[in-house]
Amino acid sequence: MNKPIVLTGIKPTGHPHLGNYIGAIKPALEMAKKTNYQSMYFIADYHALNTVQNAEQLKSYTYEIAATWLALGLNPEKVIFYRQSDVPEITELNWILSSITSKGLMNRAHAYKTKVDKNTEVGLDIDAGVNMGLYTYPILIAADILMFQSDLVPVGKDQIQHVEIARDMAASFNHTYSETFKLPQHVVTEETATIPGLDGRKMSKSYGNVIPLFESPEKLKKLIFKIKTDSSLPTEPKDPKQSSLFTLYKEFAEENEIIYFKRRYEEGIGWGEVKQQVFNVLNRELEGPRAEYHNYINQPKILQEILEVGGENARKRAQENLKIIKQRIGLTF
Ligand code: TRP
Repeated sequence: MNKPIVLTGIKPTGHPHLGNYIGAIKPALEMAKKTNYQSMYFIADYHALNTVQNAEQLKSYTYEIAATWLALGLNPEKVIFYRQSDVPEITELNWILSSITSKGLMNRAHAYKTKVDKNTEVGLDIDAGVNMGLYTYPILIAADILMFQSDLVPVGKDQIQHVEIARDMAASFNHTYSETFKLPQHVVTEETATIPGLDGRKMSKSYGNVIPLFESPEKLKKLIFKIKTDSSLPTEPKDPKQSSLFTLYKEFAEENEIIYFKRRYEEGIGWGEVKQQVFNVLNRELEGPRAEYHNYINQPKILQEILEVGGENARKRAQENLKIIKQRIGLTF
C-alpha cells in the first residue's frame, strides 16, 4: 500500500530568516518526521520567477533555501526534496489545468485581488505591475499538488484558498473526464506565535526588519541588541507576553529555562541582560545548523546532487501520472 502523500512548496524569494524558521520550517520538519506519510518538499522556483527576475539572485536563493532545510535537519533519504523546475511534467499539467479553469476564478484569487485593490486605492490601472505568472499562480500551485496525487498540503493560513482551488479543479476534471485526481486537503500548520522583527512588527522581508538565520554570532548579537524595547527601568516588573524578546526566547529555550526567564521578567530585569540571554540561547541552538549551512553553501555540488536525486524520484512519479492524465483527455493513441 502506498503511503499518503504530504506535499508542500517553498518559494526561493529571499534570505531565510528567523520568522521563516519558526513559522514554516520548524513545523514542516516536525511533519516530515511522521513515518506514516511520504513527504514531498520542493523548491518552488517557477513560482519565484514572477518576482525574482535576476538569474544570479534566483540561483543564490535556491541554494540558500536548499542548504537551510538540509542544515536544519531535513533528511533527503526520507523526504523527496526537489526543485519544481526539474519536473517539467508540472508545467505540462499547468497547461492542461489552465484550459479547464475559468478566468473569473483567477480574478477572485487573493494574491491577484490584493494587488488589484492596492492599485485601485492609489489610482493606478488595476493590472499595473501584474504579470501572467502572478495572475495564474493558483493554477501552477494546483499542478504542483495534483501532479503527485497529494493527500495533505501543509500551508500557512494565507494559502488555504490555493489548496481549495486545487481541490475544485481536481473535482471538475474528474467530473469531465472520469475519476483521475485525488482531492487534496490543506493542513494549517499550527498557529505559531507571530514572530516579531526588529521594530516589533511581524518579521517580514517586506518590512526590512528581519534577523537572518545564519548570520555570524557577532552580527546576530548586534541585531538582537537592536530589537526595540520600552523605556522601563531594570528594576521594574515586565510582562513577558508584551515582549518580543521573550517570544523569540521561548522558541529556542528549554522548558525550565523559559519558566526561570519568565520569573526574572516578573521580578524586574534590565533589557540589556534580556538581550544577552536571548542571544545566548539563539546562538547555542543555531551554532550547529549554521556550520552545516556553510558546509553546504561552500559545496554547491553536494546540493545539486541531492536535488538531482530528489528530482529524478519526483519526475518518475510525475511521468506515470501524466501518462494517465493524457489518456483521460485524449492525447494518447
Ligand atoms: N505558494 C506557496 C508560498 O507562497 C508556495 C507553494 C507553491 C506551495 N506551490 C505550492 C505550497 C504547493 C503548497 C503546495 O509560500
